Amino acid sequence: MNTLTDTDVLATKDMDLENAIDRVLVLEMVRVTEAAAVAAAQLIGRGDEKAADAAAVEAMRQAFDDLYMDGTVVIGEGERDEAPMLYIGEKVGGAPGKGPKIDIALDPLEGTTITAKAGPNALAVLAAAEEGCLLNAPDTYMDKIAVGPGYPEGVIDLAKSPTENVTSVAEAKGVKPSDIIVCVLDRPRHASLIAELRALGCGVVLIGDGDVAGVIAVTDPDTTIDMYMGQGGAPEGVLAAAALRCVGGQFNGRLVFRNDDEKARAKKWGITDLNRIYKVEELAGGDCIFAATGVTAGSLLDGVKKRKKPTGETIMTTDSVVMRASSGTVRWIRGEHRID
Ligand code: FBP
Repeated sequence: MNTLTDTDVLATKDMDLENAIDRVLVLEMVRVTEAAAVAAAQLIGRGDEKAADAAAVEAMRQAFDDLYMDGTVVIGEGERDEAPMLYIGEKVGGAPGKGPKIDIALDPLEGTTITAKAGPNALAVLAAAEEGCLLNAPDTYMDKIAVGPGYPEGVIDLAKSPTENVTSVAEAKGVKPSDIIVCVLDRPRHASLIAELRALGCGVVLIGDGDVAGVIAVTDPDTTIDMYMGQGGAPEGVLAAAALRCVGGQFNGRLVFRNDDEKARAKKWGITDLNRIYKVEELAGGDCIFAATGVTAGSLLDGVKKRKKPTGETIMTTDSVVMRASSGTVRWIRGEHRID
């Protein structure tokens, strides 16, 4: 059997730099989301959002070190002075200065409250793309609207009213507006949106948290959700857009600023037009990848489960998905992890 020395491995990786992006990003990224999900899962239903988030962050940070890449966090846990790990601008990956340059948007635990309360749809999630291809979204809100694949381009437009958008999607689908099902975050700020949708007779699926899964739900006919609408986190908007970019679907997002500090943050990250409506490819361009592992069970993925096998061994099972925009490949990956 041939044994590769470290130098051989690195030489091979240097020769294959173009392909290395595939190998590193497509499958290896799942190890990273799996690690975060398994760590957070130990705290499901324990009522401690911060501890669950911290466990996921630490596990994700460590898992990145095993990847051959020169990664930079462009969407992370906050700015350097407010986040000890996975802050915006932090270098991650085991090959700084050598491996492929990759930008990463991440949320080690999307749904901290969900996890603390053992609700549905908490995810460990990330998007990765070639340098410069992900919008460096500040930690503000974003107005969002999304539909799944198969509709004519422009069927949704954030510049138009909810009524106009529902009517447009209903016409394209060949149904009445009252047949359209819309997913919305259950927040007081959405009272008038929900009233407008109900006045049209739409079904409104209210979710307590977790709008990455909420947006992605529009791509899965099993959820029966046709559209996503409303305001949620901007970083989550970029992550959801990356998934839609891989599987098809349309997304419009517009940053929402509550104060001058948020506007200043946006300018710091190079955003000049504060009212711009971004489409999917402007949020997540190039050959982007989306990876997620379920922490709690939901519409997209099953949650982490702890099982004792008949052999006496204790394992954690994980359910993950990884998608790639350039090929449209979607891989569903079930993992079994020994925890002893
Ligand atoms: P966290 O995981 O940071 O708690 O985010 C959960 C979430 O529901 C997101 O999915 C969503 O984009 C955002 O919070 C909405 O923010 P808010 O709770 O302020 O309405």
